[in-house]
Amino acid sequence: MHCWPSLVLSALLVALGLLLLWLHLHRPVCYGKHELQQRHDEERKDGAGADRAEKPPPPRRACLPARYAWFLQELPALLVPALLLALRSPPRLAPLGCRLLVGMFCGHYFHRTFIYPFLIRGRPFPLKLLVSGVLFCIFNGFLQGYHMIYCAEYPDDWCNDIRFTSGTVLFLFGMGINIHSDSLLRQLRKPGEQTYKIPQGGLFAYVSGANYFGEILEWFGYAIATWSLPALSFALFTLCCIGPRAYHHHRYYLRKFTSYPRSRKALIPFIF
Ligand SMILES: NC(=O)c1ccc[n+]([C@@H]2O[C@H](COP(=O)([O-])OP(=O)(O)OC[C@H]3O[C@@H](n4cnc5c(N)ncnc54)[C@H](OP(=O)(O)O)[C@@H]3O)[C@@H](O)[C@H]2O)c1
Repeated sequence: MHCWPSLVLSALLVALGLLLLWLHLHRPVCYGKHELQQRHDEERKDGAGADRAEKPPPPRRACLPARYAWFLQELPALLVPALLLALRSPPRLAPLGCRLLVGMFCGHYFHRTFIYPFLIRGRPFPLKLLVSGVLFCIFNGFLQGYHMIYCAEYPDDWCNDIRFTSGTVLFLFGMGINIHSDSLLRQLRKPGEQTYKIPQGGLFAYVSGANYFGEILEWFGYAIATWSLPALSFALFTLCCIGPRAYHHHRYYLRKFTSYPRSRKALIPFIF
């Protein structure tokens, strides 16, 4: 099987990440708190909104409840590699590449598709972003799946290699931080509440984007453990995509809460 598609698609993924970084460094992706902030800024400009009620207004764009949106958006990242594996003829589950794909990549997306959306208490999610999320998950699911199923070859003792062990530890550590931080965010709200509060506990003591920091570690861990170009491209893409979001969350908190801890960084503890 030719492996050039995974090279081309990896380059495309990095290019897409750099484009998003450039687009969103100055203007955050407009969902959650940034959608609300944009509304408030517009209202202030128009001289309206002085008597705004404490309860956030409903979104103006076509939206879906957050849990359905996250479920639909993340599902293809799980389905596409699973389909590629199922359709592979002759079937190929035993090689290490396939087991890494199922255990790490699909493990993450199993949680993101079947657990995370059913716990979330977020604002409705814009349909337009959902469609781009679905397309991205199809693309990336195909790239990672195709590479691990058809291209990746590992020596028999790869599981003893320092790249595999350190990458796996980093992946699990990042996933732990990501899941824990997302759960700390959820606990900030009572059922039905939609206001924003200062995140506390865990890695939030050091950074405003603790969940994003965890996710970035996770995908760099996956890239090291699999030592593959598509996985490295995805890790870089993730950094470019959610790095700016952490930065904008940080600025939002500093603007909104006068008591926000000044020593807290945006994304990387003690550094940035
Ligand atoms: N790999 C990638 O490229 C990628 C891209 C995007 C997201 N992700 C992952 O997907 C997950 C969700 O991302 P996200 O951008 O939606 O995260 P987020 O903006 O931090 O929001 C996560 C949830 O917490 C709520 N929340 C956030 N800050 C809060 C606060 N201060 N007070 C109360 N509730 C708060 C949000 O509610 P609202 O919806 O009401 O704001 C939402 O339900 C993260 O784990 C992230 O790492 C990964």
